[in-house]
Amino acid sequence: MTPLRLGFVGLGHISTKAHLPGLLPLVSRGEVVLQAFCDSDEKAISEKAREFGVTRFYTDHREMIEREPLDALYVTIPPTFHTDAELLAAQKGIGLFVEKPQTLDIRQAVQFESAVRRAGIVSVAGFMMRYYPAAERMRELVSQRRPRHANLQFFYTGAPVRHWTNRMELCGGSFVENTIHMVDLLRYFLQDDYQAVSAFYLDRPFDPDPKAINLPHVYNVNYRFRAGVVANVTTSRVLTRTHAHRWQMVVVCDDSLIEYAHDRIVENGEVVWQAAGPANPFALQAEGFVAAVRARDPARVKSPYPGALNSLAAVLGANASAVRGGQVIDLEAFCAGT
Ligand SMILES: NC(=O)c1ccc[n+]([C@@H]2O[C@H](COP(=O)([O-])OP(=O)(O)OC[C@H]3O[C@@H](n4cnc5c(N)ncnc54)[C@H](O)[C@@H]3O)[C@@H](O)[C@H]2O)c1
Repeated sequence: MTPLRLGFVGLGHISTKAHLPGLLPLVSRGEVVLQAFCDSDEKAISEKAREFGVTRFYTDHREMIEREPLDALYVTIPPTFHTDAELLAAQKGIGLFVEKPQTLDIRQAVQFESAVRRAGIVSVAGFMMRYYPAAERMRELVSQRRPRHANLQFFYTGAPVRHWTNRMELCGGSFVENTIHMVDLLRYFLQDDYQAVSAFYLDRPFDPDPKAINLPHVYNVNYRFRAGVVANVTTSRVLTRTHAHRWQMVVVCDDSLIEYAHDRIVENGEVVWQAAGPANPFALQAEGFVAAVRARDPARVKSPYPGALNSLAAVLGANASAVRGGQVIDLEAFCAGT
C-alpha cells in the first residue's frame, strides 16, 4: 500500500496531543507518512518536527503546499488565523482537515465551503465527538423516535485557561470555541440543520487588562431546526472557584426522554447502551479521514467541511443575536450576508 503523504499547518496543542498521536499507528503500519510540518513559530516548528521525526518543515504554509507532494492537509490553527490554506488544498484537489471552529468570519467560511464543495475533495471539520461509538448509537435511536426538543448544558470553570481562548476577539467566546461540539453533535443526532437562533448572554464586568479573560459569564441560546424541533443550549462559565461542572445532552421525543453521555445512553431512566471501554475519537476520526482520502470518497467521513457550515453558522449566529439584544437570526440569511 502506498502511504498517504500528510502535511500539517499548526503544531500546537491539538495537533501534537491529539491528531498526531491518533495518526501514529497508521504511520507505524506504513499507511501514512508525515511528509511536512508548518508552524509560524520558528522555534516551535523545529522542536515539533524533531519530536515527530519530520525532516521537512516550514514557517509559511504556501511554501509548504507548493513544494511538498501532499495527499492531504491538516489545518489546526486558532480560528482567527485562517487565510488561504483551505483554498489552496481545494485548488490542488487534496484532502483537507480543518479544526473547529473553522473560522470566526462567516463570509470566509462560506467562501471556503464553496471552494471545497466545488472541488469535490474529501474534507473534514474537526467535530471528533461524532466519532464516539455512543454518538452512532444515539443517532440510530433518535431516528427511531419522534424528537420534539433538546436541552444541552455545559457548565465549566470560569477560570482563565490560556491567552487566545480567554479573549472574545480571538476565540469567539466559549459558545463558539467549545460548545460548538455539542451544537454540532445535536445536528448529527437529529439529522437536520439549524434554521434560526436567538440568544441572550450575561457579560462579565469589563476589565481593562488586555490579557484578562473577557468572555461572557453565560450564553443562553435558543434554536429551531428546519423540521421544527426546538432546542435550548446554555453554557456557563460562572463556576470559577469550584470543581463542580456539568455536561449534559437530553433529547425529548414522544414518550422518550433520552440522556446522552459518551459512555452511555439512558432512555426513560434505563441504561439502553453502555460503552464496552474507553474510545479515542481523535484516532477514529484520523482513520476515517485517511480511509476516505485513499478511497477519494467525500461521503466516507462523518463531518464533511461543507455540511459543518451549518454548525458554525449556528454558534456565530448566536453571537450575532446576542449583540442585537436577542433578535431572531435566520441562519440561511446570515450565511448569505443579508
Ligand atoms: N477538537 C477539539 O477537541 C479541540 C481541542 C483543542 C483545540 N481545538 C481547536 O484546534 C485549533 C488549534 O488549537 P490549539 O489548541 O492547537 O492552539 P495552539 O495555540 O496550542 O496552537 C496553534 C498553533 O498554530 C500556530 N499557528 C498560528 N497561525 C499559524 C499560521 N498562519 N500558520 C502556521 N501556524 C500557525 C501557532 O504558532 C501554534 O503553534 C483551534 O481552532 C481550536 O479551537 C480543538
